[in-house]
Amino acid sequence: MSDKKDFRFAGTVDHLAIKCEDLEKDVEEYKRLGFSVETVYEDWAMMRDAKGFGIALLPPNSKHPPHIGMKIDTMEELEKAANAEGRPIKPHRDGTSSFYTKGVSGQIVELIYYPENFGE
Ligand SMILES: [Fe+2]
Repeated sequence: MSDKKDFRFAGTVDHLAIKCEDLEKDVEEYKRLGFSVETVYEDWAMMRDAKGFGIALLPPNSKHPPHIGMKIDTMEELEKAANAEGRPIKPHRDGTSSFYTKGVSGQIVELIYYPENFGE
């Protein structure tokens, strides 16, 4: 990795959050593509493929915007990035913590931290 210091943030692409019309139907479709259910609520589902890539499904009643989810390795790095971006970190019901910020052309980027005990 470059040792350039003038970037805004750096992470690994973790998931893409996309709109869907029918959450239950799309969860089943993603299962057929080889994804498994990591989290499912009435207004949001996270599907993972075998290599760890996620698709977050946002039905019409979801309050989340479509976005690119980038994983940050430590809570300290997340806090540093949130301070630099001037955004508050939000803890989520699945145990993750994240914040949204604007990327290129207004695209929304989420920087997200998964705790070590995530999913246990
Ligand atoms: Fe997300």
